[in-house]
Amino acid sequence: MPAKKAADGLSAAMIGVGRMGQALARNWVQDPQSAGLTSVALIDPTPSDAVIALGKHPVAVINPDPKPVDVLIMAVKPQVFPDIKAEAAKWANSKTLVMSVMAGITIKQLAEAFPGARIARCMPNTPGAIGLGVTGFCLSDNCKSIDTDRVENLLSPLGLVEGPIREEQIDALTAVSGCGPAYVFLLTEAMAAAGRKLGLSQDMSDRLARQTVIGAGALMAEDADTSAADLRRAVTSPNGVTQVALDVLMKPGGLPDVMRLACESAAKRSYDLSQE
Ligand SMILES: NC(=O)c1ccc[n+]([C@@H]2O[C@H](COP(=O)([O-])OP(=O)(O)OC[C@H]3O[C@@H](n4cnc5c(N)ncnc54)[C@H](OP(=O)(O)O)[C@@H]3O)[C@@H](O)[C@H]2O)c1
Repeated sequence: MPAKKAADGLSAAMIGVGRMGQALARNWVQDPQSAGLTSVALIDPTPSDAVIALGKHPVAVINPDPKPVDVLIMAVKPQVFPDIKAEAAKWANSKTLVMSVMAGITIKQLAEAFPGARIARCMPNTPGAIGLGVTGFCLSDNCKSIDTDRVENLLSPLGLVEGPIREEQIDALTAVSGCGPAYVFLLTEAMAAAGRKLGLSQDMSDRLARQTVIGAGALMAEDADTSAADLRRAVTSPNGVTQVALDVLMKPGGLPDVMRLACESAAKRSYDLSQE
């Protein structure tokens, strides 16, 4: 997706430069102008070789002393956050936009940790690490209209960006896109297992299932204006081979019902975790 141009000249700091943080920071330090950034402080107690390589870019610096920045990105594991929030607060003041990708940490919790700051609570998913993810975000009430563009622009290295959404919707978004890659991996496993049961070798069945999911995903990417339901109908001849399989999958209690129950459970768990 082409990066939108945001206001230039922002200083940024990222606390926690792991898998998700690197996916963002890599793009920002390689093309700081598109990100609208002039400096990127990378904060991580044990920087990996990948982080040290990022630190060699002219706009990047690893583990400098804290001072308030324009944009602070919180990308540590959620369970680490309570222990580091006092130290992290040294990077923010009332002019800072705090962007958090920490699952389950609410705008209220972030606003308490960073008094007066504007808050963007963001929920990426794993394919974001290769720029093919989808990230939803919601904003605190004190955000300005420019923050929407700024957040979209800064998240764009992860792939598609959806927002701003209402914070109440983040649990549903987590259930669909946050957890979704795991559902697709399970579908792939189940297809491969079925193929083995029908007499294919394990290796071949794994390859068939995997490449089928990759290919179907690529078709959806290529034909973005056609709904998944229409793509399905287009490959289903009446009374044909696919039709009998779909009749099994789509009967009452079948895949659509199971998926709805799974997503309801995930959304509830996401909500419960954010209340702990
Ligand atoms: N990965 C995903 O697909 C995904 C999806 C949605 C949301 N998220 C969210 O993204 C956040 C990061 O996830 P991740 O997968 O990138 O985790 P990760 O790879 O473990 O990255 C977290 C990084 O934070 C570092 N860290 C630990 N303590 C720190 C401290 N006191 N100060 C600064 N950095 C510290 C860790 O260093 P050490 O390794 O040395 O401990 C690690 O490099 C999480 O909050 C997660 O909920 C991730």
